[in-house]
Amino acid sequence: DKMNFKHYMLKEIYDQPQTAKNWLENYLIKNLDNGQYQIKYPFDTEFFESIERIEIIACGTSKHAAMVGSFLLEQFSGIPTNVFYASEFRYSPPPLLPNTLTIGVTQSGETADTIAAIDMEIKRRSSIEDKKFKPNLIAITNRKESSIGRQVSNIIDICAGIEVGVAATKTFFAQLLSFYGLAIKFAQIKGNQSPDEIGKLINELIKLPPLLEDLLHKHNKSSEKLAHDFFNIKDVIFLGRGINYPIALEGALKLKEISYIHAAGYPAGEMKHGPIALLDKKVPVISIASPGEVFDKVISNAQEAKARDSYLIGIAPECNGTEIFDYLMKVPSSNELISPLLNILPLQLLSYHIAAHRGLDVDQPRNLAKSVTVE
Ligand code: M6R
Repeated sequence: DKMNFKHYMLKEIYDQPQTAKNWLENYLIKNLDNGQYQIKYPFDTEFFESIERIEIIACGTSKHAAMVGSFLLEQFSGIPTNVFYASEFRYSPPPLLPNTLTIGVTQSGETADTIAAIDMEIKRRSSIEDKKFKPNLIAITNRKESSIGRQVSNIIDICAGIEVGVAATKTFFAQLLSFYGLAIKFAQIKGNQSPDEIGKLINELIKLPPLLEDLLHKHNKSSEKLAHDFFNIKDVIFLGRGINYPIALEGALKLKEISYIHAAGYPAGEMKHGPIALLDKKVPVISIASPGEVFDKVISNAQEAKARDSYLIGIAPECNGTEIFDYLMKVPSSNELISPLLNILPLQLLSYHIAAHRGLDVDQPRNLAKSVTVE
């Protein structure tokens, strides 16, 4: 039920602090002997030891979660990882490589392309005798009793509860958390990070729920106000880099699917290779600028947009550099690796309020279905 919310989507955005709590309760276990936390996934992780590379298959929002996952698995855990659109993978899979883990990500567990791509991968790997090529599979899903649940035995149940709105919000968030868990597991198994570094990341995850509550509290009204000024725009550009590039893609997907406003996400450094030609005062730019490795670069990309008269909205903490934004959607400053989990909330709220302000059927956008069970 929607409780007091006007739409399921808004309720589901507000569910996210609880989604984080559930995930932490289900999957973060304190080892009583040494006081350290472990990620507890419901399958044997021995087979992780032989894994040398990872391929991830998904569609839509799940693909964006997979891209954040890939960043973590490569940069934090040190495992070469590729992400594929399921619809592409199934007809042009990469050449087979040994000791590969295949991860399917699908909230519904029923997306036809994802199921078919995983099926194809299982078949082509099983047809080879050499054990190094055998299928090693994990599925990340919100519905373990689903097609993917029958296909794959190693399931990470994202435990997000039913999501009614067609636009994925809390399931995206829970998929992200599942990847943080996997990245931590792999970093432990491969010895790629010190226990200290791993402990720091886990502590940031533990601190999330109140930060998320606070973000919702701060941004619901302000994004409603912003939506009031922007509900009539025609195009919006989303920029992000590094681990926040997929968040720019997800911000753009959320906006276009429920508001029917054209939106595109780019890695900020690619702007000057084409998209900058679109910019003028009618095209606002939403820039995700989290302090860390690429912060200065993102700010200088934002400056380039400003020079073309674009209205600049920043998703960033208040700090040196962020005064460049015409409007700052403030997020708490955090470890850069954690920032996607914070940055996505104001973007979801902004999309929601723009669509709601336009009087659209937010939960059931035109031409879309909650799960795409046909090719
Ligand atoms: O159920 P799935 O996660 O496999 O769905 C994949 C996409 O169809 C889905 O994420 C779609 O992009 C959503 N409407 C996004 O909000």
